[in-house]
Amino acid sequence: MRPTLRQRILPVSLSEFTMPTLTAWETPKAGSLARLTQKTMPLPTLPLGQLRIGVHAVGLNFADIFALTGLYSATPQGAFTPGLEFSGTVIDAGAHNKATDSLFKVGDRVMGVTRFGGYCSVIDSEPDYLMPLPHHWDFPQGAAFPAQTLTAWYALTTLGNLQPDHNVLIHSAAGGVGLQAMKLTQALGATPVGTVGNPNKARILQDMGFSDVLVRQRDFSRQLTESGHRFDLVLDAIGGTVQQASFAALNPMGRLVVFGAAEFTPTGNRPNYLKAAWRYLRRPRYDVMDMISNNRSVMAFNLIWLWEQKTIMQTLLRELQAIDLPPPHVGHRFAFDDAHAALALLQSGQSVGKVVLEVPQ
Ligand SMILES: NC(=O)c1ccc[n+]([C@@H]2O[C@H](COP(=O)([O-])OP(=O)(O)OC[C@H]3O[C@@H](n4cnc5c(N)ncnc54)[C@H](OP(=O)(O)O)[C@@H]3O)[C@@H](O)[C@H]2O)c1
Repeated sequence: MRPTLRQRILPVSLSEFTMPTLTAWETPKAGSLARLTQKTMPLPTLPLGQLRIGVHAVGLNFADIFALTGLYSATPQGAFTPGLEFSGTVIDAGAHNKATDSLFKVGDRVMGVTRFGGYCSVIDSEPDYLMPLPHHWDFPQGAAFPAQTLTAWYALTTLGNLQPDHNVLIHSAAGGVGLQAMKLTQALGATPVGTVGNPNKARILQDMGFSDVLVRQRDFSRQLTESGHRFDLVLDAIGGTVQQASFAALNPMGRLVVFGAAEFTPTGNRPNYLKAAWRYLRRPRYDVMDMISNNRSVMAFNLIWLWEQKTIMQTLLRELQAIDLPPPHVGHRFAFDDAHAALALLQSGQSVGKVVLEVPQ
């Protein structure tokens, strides 16, 4: 058949000229979950020294909700893509292709952390922020590991000074960070006592072998006193009266490690600023003079600042790899397109383990 005029002018099909693209979830600015939309854009040039990862799975973090609703101080100004951790395959090793001592090569399965930008089908990353994905883990398990396990580890060991004879109270014990904290506490020979918001989570934890789990009641202070438990370490990311009661249950030399404030979680797309302000005014406060008298202390952290401290982060990751934990529990897998549904589940406080988005390949 004779070629048409169009075929003679354009002998190569248009699809062959199609620019390679990436798909990302982006919000024009923080303030409302509803602003998050999916965008497709051309792949940028791979920056020197970085590796290009074809993302298979993205791990959701509670911080994503706080960032999108404008309640997280580390959130970038203006437009941004949420997301702090991912897993995937190296699809372009750039200059590392030629380096014989390079840790990663094209085709390697990796997991990594990123300072925002995680909800994306392609991520460019410095090798320092990547780790090999253990061969017996799947991609969602890899995307569930770095941020939440680093958080649990830093809270327990660096700040918490965890010792094998310690009793440790871990709030939201069935959550992403909480489950890893329960496992790490056990792995280090200490005794974890978990708290959760509903009996279903308590059953799941018990099935996993954690015998000491409290379903938090309205009067948590009374519940804790009646339970007779005393603690050497408390991990809290809820705040309010739960945190206050936990501090009161510390043994001398005990430490309360605070790393979040889930009680501020908005129930809709936007924060209720009046409610948040009320909670803020009633937040627990601690008197350092009392801390001296009672020999108990409060510590707090935000791991996002570790992004700049690569050496510390690498040390923590090496320490973690030496523990040889089983793969993290992925409770909920959503398609990449269903980010809104995945965020809604995490925000509801009903999720168990990690919530993950899977990128179609
Ligand atoms: N500072 C840091 O560097 C850092 C890093 C990572 C995570 N975090 C914090 O650690 C916490 C856990 O993070 P994650 O990603 O693993 O989340 P997650 O624990 O999987 O989910 C959050 C949990 O918070 C509890 N919760 C308490 N009050 C709530 C409320 N009003 N609304 C919704 N949920 C409520 C719920 O569990 P229960 O009801 O069972 O308690 C919920 O499942 C978050 O507060 C997060 O901000 C801090």
